[in-house]
Amino acid sequence: GADTQNLDLLRSSLKLCPNFPKKGITFIDVFGAFANPKAHRALIDLILSRLKKLGTTIDAVVGLEARGFIFGPQIALELQVPFVPVRKLGKLPGKVAKIDYDLEYGKDTMEIQTQVLKPGTKILLVDDLLATGGTLGAAQKLCVDLGCEVVETLVIIELLGLNGRAKLTDVNHFTTLLQFS
Ligand code: PRP
Repeated sequence: GADTQNLDLLRSSLKLCPNFPKKGITFIDVFGAFANPKAHRALIDLILSRLKKLGTTIDAVVGLEARGFIFGPQIALELQVPFVPVRKLGKLPGKVAKIDYDLEYGKDTMEIQTQVLKPGTKILLVDDLLATGGTLGAAQKLCVDLGCEVVETLVIIELLGLNGRAKLTDVNHFTTLLQFS
């Protein structure tokens, strides 16, 4: 069907870059999907199709810096709900909530504006990729701390080797389009 075709198109549009950013690491460049309008369309259609199948009510899309900003707003537009960004420390004006999280090396802090996200808001959380899960796990907690409900978390790519799923609060509401070992 259309989903299988779209998935094949998406998979073949991603660029695998061996030894980037350092030796022994293969980087998956998600921008490949946006360099090709057919793959871009396939990606958006796939996400919308998955969400339709799930049938979950979504009040807002929350996207993570930086690559959750590329397609998150498009999904929000299609669903006719607000898009809300999660950014690294010190980038967002107004009232923000923040959370510290662990990186592969070191720590960082992410922030979200609280204005749109009233308690009870049903959130779709999106990012391009799940690796260790530290980033998405923290973003889920940030939303939950605001009294919101993360009804679905979606990534384009899941790297299976790092077991990032273990860091997520709710694996039963986790959608991944492509998995790499
Ligand atoms: C990448 C990716 C995710 C995160 C996943 O972002 O886009 O946000 O890492 O890693 P994790 O599952 O191990 O936490 P990156 O750190 O490159 O930040 P950027 O998108 O702002 O450049």
